[in-house]
Amino acid sequence: MLDPEKIRKDFPIFKRKFKGSALAYLDNAATTQKPCQVMEAMDDYYRNFNANPHRGAYRLVADATERYESARKNIAAFIGARQEEIIFTRNATESLNLVATVVCQQAAPGSSILLTQMEHHSNIVPWQMNAKRHNLRIKYAKIRSYGALCMEDMPQELAIRPAVFSFTHVSNVLGTINDAVKLCRLAHESGALACVDAAQSVPHMKVDVRKIGCDFLAFSGHKMLGPTGIGVLYMRRDLQETLPPFLVGGDMIKEVTFEGATWNSPPYKFEAGTPNVAGAVGLSAAVDYLKKIGMEKIEKHEQELASYCREKLSGIPGIKFYGPKKGAGIVSYNIGKLHAHDVGQFADEDGIAIRTGHHCAQPLMKLMGEPATCRASVYIYNSEEEVHRLAASMKRAQKTLG
Ligand SMILES: Cc1ncc(COP(=O)(O)O)c(C=O)c1O
Repeated sequence: MLDPEKIRKDFPIFKRKFKGSALAYLDNAATTQKPCQVMEAMDDYYRNFNANPHRGAYRLVADATERYESARKNIAAFIGARQEEIIFTRNATESLNLVATVVCQQAAPGSSILLTQMEHHSNIVPWQMNAKRHNLRIKYAKIRSYGALCMEDMPQELAIRPAVFSFTHVSNVLGTINDAVKLCRLAHESGALACVDAAQSVPHMKVDVRKIGCDFLAFSGHKMLGPTGIGVLYMRRDLQETLPPFLVGGDMIKEVTFEGATWNSPPYKFEAGTPNVAGAVGLSAAVDYLKKIGMEKIEKHEQELASYCREKLSGIPGIKFYGPKKGAGIVSYNIGKLHAHDVGQFADEDGIAIRTGHHCAQPLMKLMGEPATCRASVYIYNSEEEVHRLAASMKRAQKTLG
């Protein structure tokens, strides 16, 4: 296991007391806390290198451009991509909107899009909007009652020969880890493009786009120690050339006349307007921080802590878990008939932050027959001691509210 006490020293927020208690932050699937290294990198950028990259011929522009492009290179290497295959966006949601918009624009009318029943709204709504716009149909691959995709049924699901299959690598509600390699292979065999929502995987495990074999992969900086407002879309090089741009305006053009415009080379073709340079620099520092610890160690720490958490919570009368026993660092549960929000507020009184609600996955929650669940999601700075605090708080909640 990692040494969470040592790691916590890098995170100023843990100095804050909440109702007299140290903060047990167990809502990492929503967003993560930030280490000094990330904040200092952004501060350094603004203090010493700030200018508008790619625009102008003076020294500071060259500095800002260098910082922005070396962040791109570092982030690309982190997921096994080439530098130019990385498109900076605002977050995973914007990355998925980009894919849905440009892919649906080129799909033949009447063709299908395949999603799964366990998607976050960010991997449903952009497809719904664009499907409507371009007269496409959406299908959802079924999941089993314990919260995993029916892998044996996947060839059947893909028999509709969709234009694209977009699926989550790791479910933010259930913690299910989907076999992305196999799903991408099956998608390609059926002639579909494969898009991976990696918002819950890139921060927590080694992800390599070449090994996965995807065409697109989306994630957010803020869920992996980076700042808010920066996200990433990996897009395969040849697709960058053939797909149309998403947002249009400054820097994404080659030439503009009063009559029309031609596009800059990728990835700039997909990055309209002044980019979030400080965000990219901060995310690159976050990547350095994670690499120093090691993604294999991070994954192991989280999986062990999540299964320890399940074990400690399992003695509580009426507790029900959702999702497979062996999954990512996400533990979703309800306690008897208690409403998740009441349970969450009870935990808050003890200085414990867990997520309660539908987790932006209402269709999945409806399928599960639950309006809400409690969700504890762990990261590198969480400890067994915090799991004990959560279990003690949940026991008291059951006794007091039950
Ligand atoms: C699986 C999954 N996809 C997409 C998103 C959207 O991320 P963001 O809000 O950073 O765009 C989330 C956020 O929780 C998520 O868990």
